[in-house]
Amino acid sequence: MNTKHFARGWTGMVAPMAMAVVALGMAAPRLAAQAPAGPPPMPATAANLSGKTAEQFYKKIDALKGIPAVEVHPAMEYITTALGVGCGYCHVPGKFDSDDKHEKNVARSMMKMTMALNNTVFDAKREITCYTCHRGAAKAASTLALAGDKVPTDASGAEIFPALSVMTFSSIDGEMSPSKAPATVMAGPARPGKAAEPVALPSADEVFGKYEEALGGKAAIAKITSLVHKGMAEMLVPAPPVPQGAPPPPPPAMGSVPAELNVKSPKGLISVVFPGRGPQMMGFDGTIGWTNVPNREETGGELIMVKELGEMVPALEFRKQHTGVKVDAMEKIGDRDVYRVVGTRKEGITTLDRIYFDAQTGLLARTYTTMQSVLGGFPEETTYEDYRDVSGLKVPFTMRVVSAEGNRTYTWSQVDANAPVEDSKFTKPEPPPPPPARPAAD
Ligand code: HEC
Ligand code: HEC
Repeated sequence: MNTKHFARGWTGMVAPMAMAVVALGMAAPRLAAQAPAGPPPMPATAANLSGKTAEQFYKKIDALKGIPAVEVHPAMEYITTALGVGCGYCHVPGKFDSDDKHEKNVARSMMKMTMALNNTVFDAKREITCYTCHRGAAKAASTLALAGDKVPTDASGAEIFPALSVMTFSSIDGEMSPSKAPATVMAGPARPGKAAEPVALPSADEVFGKYEEALGGKAAIAKITSLVHKGMAEMLVPAPPVPQGAPPPPPPAMGSVPAELNVKSPKGLISVVFPGRGPQMMGFDGTIGWTNVPNREETGGELIMVKELGEMVPALEFRKQHTGVKVDAMEKIGDRDVYRVVGTRKEGITTLDRIYFDAQTGLLARTYTTMQSVLGGFPEETTYEDYRDVSGLKVPFTMRVVSAEGNRTYTWSQVDANAPVEDSKFTKPEPPPPPPARPAAD
């Protein structure tokens, strides 16, 4: 789909910065420059990772043995979100292969436990994930909370255990696949309520046809070769950096910063400028998806999201990227009626994406997708508003992103079609030079 880049974007950036842990993200080459001995580790570029298993590329892989190396970072990103922590919670900054931290060792056992659960109880389906227990908190709760009581996850017992509605286990069919059983048990007795009234839904072809027309028509879309959006992003903004030795800066706070989105399909680039820092960018050059802070390449489920930066018109190619595409419901977004279209993503770890079209205007109202990793996934939702005409094409001037990694709203004040955009703009920048060596006492 189309949205995540906006959402996904700053994963490696704001969230980790928020934790003041991380810009070290994947800056392996830079750190290597300071390493005392041994061959410099290979940078974790998509090309270097390609075709290797996790253990062939990384040094201390045990729980994740056998998974493609490109899937390691998405899995790491997933667990930081599922536990609500930064990379530094488990890792010694800059030494990702070090097993010195207790938390990393616990996490490794947790990975093994989670996989064992899925393999033995759930027919090898990924039903249990870190989030199932952790709910965004590092400390999982082992004791039921009383109603209204706040456990560390900030959710009440009833929220965590809807299964309190479980009445009896005797209804479980002995022949049933074990992976089905818990869901059946959890559902409990059906709640009384009025049955949904059947709505006549249009076909997917009708919905996409209407979308194309509402955008301005095939011919108008075909004339657009580039789009340059300029405006502001309202998001979590880190405080300007402080000189070394000064008291730490205040934590990031919601604020408004200049933002820019360039699209020249299949290339795309989004950037924001935080006070006191250079532009923070995320781009896709047609092959490589990257961020500049930290300077790294995206792989696996993260790359799939970055690619969407290059979509000239969001979700227009949904049917090419998904199977089983169908209109399956009518819902409301605010007071607008919308058609919900679902489809199973073809690329990467299979997942169901949803997009929503305004039933009246035919325009795209919202997209929902997930970043999937071997350990679990997290959602991202983008709502498109304020469509305006740009050279015959309808372009959303407001995009609201809801994401586990920080919500943000982009408000474009100007969008130009077919302005010249250099291809080099989309190329991954060189990593910053290594910082000067510090005295050992530092
Ligand atoms: C909750 C703990 C936890 C968090 C948070 C976490 N990791 Fe990990 N990480 C691990 C564990 C455990 C392993 C080893 C997995 C295994 O045994 O297969 C690992 C392995 C790695 C490796 C491979 C290192 C090597 O050479 O062996 C890298 C790189 C890595 N993590 C990066 C990150 C990044 C970047 C983040 C933040 C986005 C992060 N991790 C967050 C627990 C964590
Ligand atoms: C079946 C429930 C469950 C699942 C699934 C689960 N955890 Fe845990 N986890 C717990 C519980 C309970 C604790 C707390 C144990 C304690 O208090 O000593 C915990 C503790 C931890 C801790 C130590 C926290 C601390 O600061 O002491 C880490 C790290 C962790 N889990 C990571 C993970 C990761 C990563 C995953 C997914 C691969 C995962 N967990 C999946 C239940 C779970």
